[in-house]
Amino acid sequence: MKQRKPIVIANWKLNGGLDLICVSVASFIGKHFNADIAICPPYIYMRDMMTFLQFSELHIGSQNVSRFESGAYTGETSAQMLKEAGCSLCLIGHSERRAMFGENNEGCQIKVCTALSHDLLPVLCVGENQQQREANITEDVLNTQLREGLANIDLQGKDLCIAYEPIWAIGTGLAATPKIAQEVHQFIRAQLSDIFGAETANGLRILYGGSVNKINTRELLGQPDVDGLLVGGASLDPGHFLTICEQVSELAIA
Ligand code: 13P
Repeated sequence: MKQRKPIVIANWKLNGGLDLICVSVASFIGKHFNADIAICPPYIYMRDMMTFLQFSELHIGSQNVSRFESGAYTGETSAQMLKEAGCSLCLIGHSERRAMFGENNEGCQIKVCTALSHDLLPVLCVGENQQQREANITEDVLNTQLREGLANIDLQGKDLCIAYEPIWAIGTGLAATPKIAQEVHQFIRAQLSDIFGAETANGLRILYGGSVNKINTRELLGQPDVDGLLVGGASLDPGHFLTICEQVSELAIA
């Protein structure tokens, strides 16, 4: 049995709607999981999701969080607002936000601090692209993302997750092999150990994301340093996502 409680997060990105909320949440009603499970829908559906949550163990997550608390920042949503909407975690620095919305490590660091100060679990996303992997600089890229994204952060007993999402595996159907995932997760844990100390690093969960599905879940989760999954496309099919969560839950007590 793994000492860290597994976590599965669905990232719906700019997909889904009220009907998907209803069907997805309904499939979790009355079920118990030996894992933390969250869905990150588009902001507008969070309140709808919350009304159903009392009947399931699901958590609501956010795909992003503003670095600002309040003020003249058109289009932003603050950590405080997310908390009020029933959110318990937020993704930070997803590669799509880094690539398309100009997010950088320094901004991620501010967001991690903001999330922590509002008791939202930050899930900092890191990962290399295809060229960086081929150039053998994966570890340098991850090291910079982690050192800068987590600079001067004192966890003070609070929780934090890292999601390793190799960009070449996102939406391509080509998930990292379990061996690659384990190697990279082990490297990430070693960096976390340098940053926060070994004891803290041992308790932090590192998720894998990138073409996760019900076929590769068991093998990925079977790796010692893979503590959870961040699921994109497969989470838009409620039955498929439920199967992934059930497999993770079974593995947790195996
Ligand atoms: P896919 O599971 O569709 O590859 O997406 C992964 C992802 O980006 C989750 O955040």
